[in-house]
Amino acid sequence: MKRVQKPPPFLLLLLHIFFLSLLPLKAATSSSRTQAKALIHWKSSFHNSSSLPPHDDLNSWSLTNLDNLCNWTGIVCDHNTKTVAQIDLSNFNITATLIQFNFTTFLNLTQFILYNNYFRGPIPSAIGNLSKLTTLDLGYNNFGEEIPAEIANLTELGYLSFYGNYLRGTIPYQLSNLQKVQFLHLGGNYLETADWSVFSGMPSLTYLDFSWASLDSEFPEFISKCSNLTFLDLSQNAFTGQIPELVFTNLGKLEYLNLTSNSFQGPLPSNFPKLKHLHSAENNFSGPIPEDIGQLRELQYLDLRNNFLNSSIPSELGLCTNLTYLNLTSNHLEGKIPSSIGQLRELQHLDLQMNSLDSSIPSELGFCTNLTYLDLSSNHLEGKIPSSIGQLRELQNLYLQMNSLNSSIPSELGFCFSLTYLDLSRNQLSGSIPLTLSNLAHIQSLDLSNNNLNGSFPTEIAFPLLGNFYLSQNNFTYNTFVGNSDLCRDARGLSRACNSKKNNRKVIIGVLVPVCGISVVAITIALILMFHKKTKCALKKINSTAQNFENFVSMILQEEVKFTFGEVVKAIDDFHEKYCIGKGGFGRVYKAELLSGQVVAVKRLNMSDSNDIPAINLQSFENEIRTLTNVRHKNIIRLYGFCSRRGCIFLLYEYLERGSLGKALYGVEGVTELGWATRVKVVKGLAHALSYLHHDCSPPIVHRDVTVNNVLLESDFEARLSDFGTARLISANSSNWTHIVGSFGYMAPELALTMRVRDKCDVYSFGVVALEVMMGRHPGDLLESQLSESSKSMEDNAELLLKDVLDQRLEAPSNELAKAVVLVMSLALGCIRTRPGSRPTMLYVAQKLSAHSLPSLPEPFGMLTLNKLMGI
Ligand SMILES: *[C@@H]1O[C@H](CO)[C@@H](O)[C@H](O)[C@H]1NC(C)=O
Ligand SMILES: *[C@@H]1O[C@H](CO)[C@@H](O)[C@H](O)[C@H]1NC(C)=O
Ligand SMILES: *[C@@H]1O[C@H](CO)[C@@H](O)[C@H](O)[C@H]1NC(C)=O
Ligand SMILES: *[C@@H]1O[C@H](CO)[C@@H](O)[C@H](O)[C@H]1NC(C)=O
Ligand SMILES: *[C@@H]1O[C@H](CO)[C@@H](O)[C@H](O)[C@H]1NC(C)=O
Ligand SMILES: *[C@@H]1O[C@H](CO)[C@@H](O)[C@H](O)[C@H]1NC(C)=O
Ligand SMILES: *[C@@H]1O[C@H](CO)[C@@H](O)[C@H](O)[C@H]1NC(C)=O
Ligand SMILES: *[C@@H]1O[C@H](CO)[C@@H](O)[C@H](O)[C@H]1NC(C)=O
Ligand SMILES: *[C@@H]1O[C@H](CO)[C@@H](O)[C@H](O)[C@H]1NC(C)=O
Ligand SMILES: *[C@@H]1O[C@H](CO)[C@@H](O)[C@H](O)[C@H]1NC(C)=O
Repeated sequence: MKRVQKPPPFLLLLLHIFFLSLLPLKAATSSSRTQAKALIHWKSSFHNSSSLPPHDDLNSWSLTNLDNLCNWTGIVCDHNTKTVAQIDLSNFNITATLIQFNFTTFLNLTQFILYNNYFRGPIPSAIGNLSKLTTLDLGYNNFGEEIPAEIANLTELGYLSFYGNYLRGTIPYQLSNLQKVQFLHLGGNYLETADWSVFSGMPSLTYLDFSWASLDSEFPEFISKCSNLTFLDLSQNAFTGQIPELVFTNLGKLEYLNLTSNSFQGPLPSNFPKLKHLHSAENNFSGPIPEDIGQLRELQYLDLRNNFLNSSIPSELGLCTNLTYLNLTSNHLEGKIPSSIGQLRELQHLDLQMNSLDSSIPSELGFCTNLTYLDLSSNHLEGKIPSSIGQLRELQNLYLQMNSLNSSIPSELGFCFSLTYLDLSRNQLSGSIPLTLSNLAHIQSLDLSNNNLNGSFPTEIAFPLLGNFYLSQNNFTYNTFVGNSDLCRDARGLSRACNSKKNNRKVIIGVLVPVCGISVVAITIALILMFHKKTKCALKKINSTAQNFENFVSMILQEEVKFTFGEVVKAIDDFHEKYCIGKGGFGRVYKAELLSGQVVAVKRLNMSDSNDIPAINLQSFENEIRTLTNVRHKNIIRLYGFCSRRGCIFLLYEYLERGSLGKALYGVEGVTELGWATRVKVVKGLAHALSYLHHDCSPPIVHRDVTVNNVLLESDFEARLSDFGTARLISANSSNWTHIVGSFGYMAPELALTMRVRDKCDVYSFGVVALEVMMGRHPGDLLESQLSESSKSMEDNAELLLKDVLDQRLEAPSNELAKAVVLVMSLALGCIRTRPGSRPTMLYVAQKLSAHSLPSLPEPFGMLTLNKLMGI
């Protein structure tokens, strides 16, 4: 009976199923709504950083969209429970903290990825609640404070990265309890060394990265118990001591080992049979390169530079036939380069510079046909350069300088068709330059200086891309370059200069065409480069709204500056021509009158249009500019700041109404206002400016482009040197530019041969400017006669009377003024001496000009010859 009264069992079952299915459904809905609200609450704390694009992508996180949680951006739900299983907000530019994040609402989270945002503040200890996490990636944020020990509760973790934050304190030892972790990256933080002895081994660990973490202990011993490791990066710390023996025996699976930039010492770790990359550079490893390195058959990358290794290079290294990169720079390696090196057929980079290697270069090197970079410089190598070098058709960089190589340059070198940089300087190479070098169509830098080369420079050789070219300190005959018609032809449009007659020479290039000799090379190189680089910058693409201009690659303004670059650009209407007040070789100058009434000059430099300034160069620009904005001197124009954008560089300078010395000198003021006293004052100011740059700045600053156009004048005719830094900026962009720096007619003659810029080049240019100011014209003929070997023209000039050389538009000076003019002229003549070493320093010149005791004239003013002046 009882049975009858009861509902049939199948009905009960159905009811059960019905209610059972209802319950979790209801629960899921409510907990997913709770989660959705928790996420919105968190999102409401995100900062809208104006400098970054807003994170529109999180639009789906909204109260009107609560029911779609599983479709929200960055959210992945669990299939069954429809609650959040994964949160991935990597690369969202979010500025926020984790403090508003309600951990207890997301207990089922398996992945939590905030990689590459601007999260800051602490990592809350509540994170220990997320006990199901398998992946936790907070890398590349601004998290601070210590790593919470509660991390150790996340026992399911396989992937843990705090890489690139500002975490401090010690690594909690509990971390090593995470037995499932395979990937652990704590690098790029400010950690303190822990007591490693309480850490246990992490058996699953395959990837461990502690690089850039300011750790300074001995080798953390727990690592040697992580026997599944394949990747270990301890680079860029201050680890000390020897690598324990256990490491060698236990880490048999290691493929990548990076110990770079630490203070490890003792013998080099080497016997890891699976090793592919060994970076042990910049440590204190000593002793030999072990012979068993030959066992590392998988080795591709071996970097041991900057250690104290003092053996020979073991010939067993030739067994590591998979090597592509080998750098042993700056050790104490000795003996010969083993011929087995020829077995390294995959080798692309071989760098053995700065050791004590001797004997000759093995000809087997010619088998390493994949070589693109070969540096054997600064060793004791002797004998000849093997002709097999010609087999290295991929070679782009060849550095053999500073050895004792003798005999002649092998003509086979001309078969290294890819050569771009070739340095054979400071050897004892003899003979003449082989004609085959004309095959080197890609060469950009060629240094043959300081050898015993002789003969003349082959007339067939013309290097279209050549930038740096050093030939000095050889035995070349004087007319080495005469008749190198190819060099002339390649200079396009300059061929006239090669045959130029005296009368039209000055029109083309001023003074540097005295003989169609040495200077032709300089001018040719410079012009090749000028024509080669079509300068034009992508300025047109800039819109005229001021905001857009705040979006720079880089920007530096002096602290006292009260305007923005946007205001400046607005003031000149987006570089409208009507605001352009000057054009030069490097770019244009604009005059900007700001709303505040302040007037500034904007110099826009042209850079190569093909590419923006590489980041690394930009960095060095910035350093340079920082120095230059700090230069303060009453005879130097203030550099307010700099910014760069889309391949253009802008420099903001003080603006001077009166304009340049050149303009004044050759305008009416030249006669009306630039009397002798003023001219002497101008020269004195310039001397002080240069003396300051050379002798009071650290490091010294070489201006490189002193001309009458780069000296500006105050209303009281005080000289203000401008444009310093421009030259250096340009040349920093590319080594090629070095040579067009400097203006023709002011450039020191040694630049033609060495291209080495020293302060004595400024002294020369100063001399030219001083003469020009006194003579009222460019002193072209005087410079020529200085340079020329022909003693005839020298004598001619020497007998010239000073009074005939001076600006004839003014009356000859008398009394004290005459003495001052004589002093300026005699110092200027000293400055333009051909040999840099015999020119005075700017300090000397500036002091002489300041001293009130002017020399008494050796002869009446009207009878003074230039010869006499040179002797003063
Ligand atoms: C989920 O989002 C996608 C686009 O983000 C949309 O196409 C789709 O309709 C959405 N699904 C639901 C159920 O809202
Ligand atoms: C983050 O910012 C960078 C530049 O600041 C931008 O290129 C990128 O698209 C932004 N990412 C998102 C998701 O907004
Ligand atoms: C977090 O969420 C839970 C419910 O999931 C709630 O009880 C708790 O108060 C919340 N905590 C905070 C700090 O909002
Ligand atoms: C977590 O998952 C379990 C089942 O795996 C479920 O019962 C529980 O409700 C989930 N909790 C949350 C907060 O999603
Ligand atoms: C972590 O786990 C320990 C026990 O293993 C427990 O005592 C502690 O409360 C947990 N902490 C958190 C934040 O979950
Ligand atoms: C070590 O790695 C091997 C495979 O590489 C794996 O089979 C083994 O389980 C790993 N050991 C641990 C403790 O995870
Ligand atoms: C260390 O070497 C490894 C393997 O070659 C490399 O992946 C890693 O980027 C290097 N670490 C640093 C900090 O450069
Ligand atoms: C060299 O590397 C290749 C793959 O790049 C590999 O197949 C070969 O086994 C390696 N050689 C040696 C000797 O390990
Ligand atoms: C040289 O490099 C090329 C590609 O860069 C590669 O195919 C070749 O195997 C390498 N080895 C030799 C010996 O040429
Ligand atoms: C080798 O190391 C030296 C010293 O750090 C470095 O200047 C050189 O560029 C490296 N060579 C190669 C080929 O990377």
